[in-house]
Amino acid sequence: MLEIKDLRKTFFPHTPNEKKALRGVNLTLEEGDFVTVIGSNGSGKSTLMNCIAGVFFPDKGSIRINGDDVTRMPEHIRARYIGRVFQDPMKGTAAEMQIAENLAMASRRGKPLSLRWSSSANQIEQFKELLRELDLGLENRLETRIGTLSGGQRQSITLLMATLVRPKLLLLDEHTAALDPKTAEKVLELTQKRVSEGHLTTLMITHNMRDALRFGNRLIMMHEGRVVVDVGGEKKKNLTIQSLLELFEKASGAEFDNPEALLTP
Ligand SMILES: Nc1ncnc2c1ncn2[C@@H]1O[C@H](COP(=O)(O)OP(=O)(O)O)[C@@H](O)[C@H]1O
Ligand SMILES: [Mg+2]
Repeated sequence: MLEIKDLRKTFFPHTPNEKKALRGVNLTLEEGDFVTVIGSNGSGKSTLMNCIAGVFFPDKGSIRINGDDVTRMPEHIRARYIGRVFQDPMKGTAAEMQIAENLAMASRRGKPLSLRWSSSANQIEQFKELLRELDLGLENRLETRIGTLSGGQRQSITLLMATLVRPKLLLLDEHTAALDPKTAEKVLELTQKRVSEGHLTTLMITHNMRDALRFGNRLIMMHEGRVVVDVGGEKKKNLTIQSLLELFEKASGAEFDNPEALLTP
């Protein structure tokens, strides 16, 4: 479904600030894979996701989605089939626009821009139902401006928007990291629900090892710009934090330097 071959990206090449962010990433996702991604700070997780989304291009290597080479496809075209939710709740929704307008915009993803943005009665009902499922009391606030909502509410709506038109691929980059634990849990539950209902192929970066173990059918760990651990199936189900740390240390020859990942509840 997603096929990444020898992906490489260096920032500020040939300068004193040179950063080799990706040093040859190989990764293949099957249709319906829900992969959690964990790794030390600066190991290249976000750079990998940005290359997949087309925020910037890699220096070398290739990215294919359902057989199509998208390596150098412009970001806005790729956005037609990639849903994204990143860490910052302020991004991903338009603050000045109403909830309904944001959802209507998302429902038009991949369709011609010429048609009106206004929503039909049917669509309003659909939006209300989706918002009711969020259980955040937003179902009767369709005309509320997004900018007045809390971070958790905004992030939940971003997630709805990213999955309203079924994406071929869903990319989540620490999308609950900026939320308080209770809200984060709610957004994770919603994530699980949307992913399983839509059978979405998903990559979810998390700084929380427990979440990486709890969610998904497969887990990868990155270190210094490479994928160093890749565990799926029964083996993934039986993983513990301890065994994960051992795997990581064996594969990378380093200690896991993201203690935050262990401390967060
Ligand atoms: N847009 C960018 N410009 C310059 N350097 C970057 C950029 N994005 C990431 N980096 C650098 O690339 C390395 C990997 O970063 P990143 O992919 O954000 O790591 P992670 O998400 O795993 O914490 C880091 O050294 C980071 O400073
Ligand atoms: Mg990151």
